[in-house]
Amino acid sequence: MLELHNVRHVYPNGYQALKDVSLTIQDGEVAAIIGRSGAGKSTLLRCINGMERAAAGTIRIDGIDIVGAHGDALRRIQTKVGFIWQEYNLVERLSVMNNVLSGRLGHRQDAGSTLFHFDRFDREVAVHSLERVNMLHRAQFRADRLSGGEKQRVSIARALAQSPRVILADEPVASLDPELSEQVIGDLVRVARDEGVPTLINLHDVELAVQFCDRICAIAQGVVVYDGPPSGLTDEVLNRTYRFDRGWKSYARGVVAEASATAAAATIRSDSRDRDADLVGSARL
Ligand SMILES: Nc1ncnc2c1ncn2[C@@H]1O[C@H](COP(=O)(O)OP(=O)(O)OP(=O)(O)O)[C@@H](O)[C@H]1O
Ligand SMILES: [Mg+2]
Repeated sequence: MLELHNVRHVYPNGYQALKDVSLTIQDGEVAAIIGRSGAGKSTLLRCINGMERAAAGTIRIDGIDIVGAHGDALRRIQTKVGFIWQEYNLVERLSVMNNVLSGRLGHRQDAGSTLFHFDRFDREVAVHSLERVNMLHRAQFRADRLSGGEKQRVSIARALAQSPRVILADEPVASLDPELSEQVIGDLVRVARDEGVPTLINLHDVELAVQFCDRICAIAQGVVVYDGPPSGLTDEVLNRTYRFDRGWKSYARGVVAEASATAAAATIRSDSRDRDADLVGSARL
């Protein structure tokens, strides 16, 4: 289980990117994080994997707090967090197999020995991870010879090879075409559910979030403005998420209920700086 209580994050320049975020994600639950550019989505994921240290609050993975952890204790928790990046972060000149095996590095006791000498168990885990994303046939390919969709599947396999207790993905399909995006998110959600771990996926594509995820957490200006099932993603919620400083608009989405009078009354002002709000509902954000 992943539990966040009253998480606040302040960057060194004093900018408060997360104000007060509380979320609990159960094992096997797949939640999409949606929100405008700059809402704090990546900051949230980076706090969960310990790349950023929250200024306040607690973040527990299976009961172990990451906010107060340092040194070896922090590294031990980090090995349990599988992270999938928009730009894959594969080592391009290494084979697919060695990229996936690198997910096992955190489990090795013999950190001083040859980097790519892995025991039989590690290799079996890597093979199985590649099988689960249908990439075993590419095991000996160099990573730089793969297509974008294949690279992202390999990075999912690498995360699985970690035997993660949490899976985090930051815009994992933002570099892929719509058809491939659907396939890769479908694969990611399937393996995350099979793995039975809490999974958070930052997504600009609301349609994909609704189609594949169990739950939607919407963030605006560093706070959670909606946390619930995809069916609750009404026009009011979308306006609160994407147009909190602009005029109200109907997204006319399949999943969206009638426009709420309250939201209409909450219309504030138009702000031409943010392109995201105009794009929501039509395509990826
Ligand atoms: N290192 C940093 N120092 C100061 N401010 C930062 C830093 N990194 C991010 N920010 C600010 O924190 C806010 C949240 O950034 P974050 O990257 O979490 O947004 P995001 O929701 O992931 O956006 P996007 O959808 O564009 O990826 C933004 O206003 C951003 O400018
Ligand atoms: Mg981001």
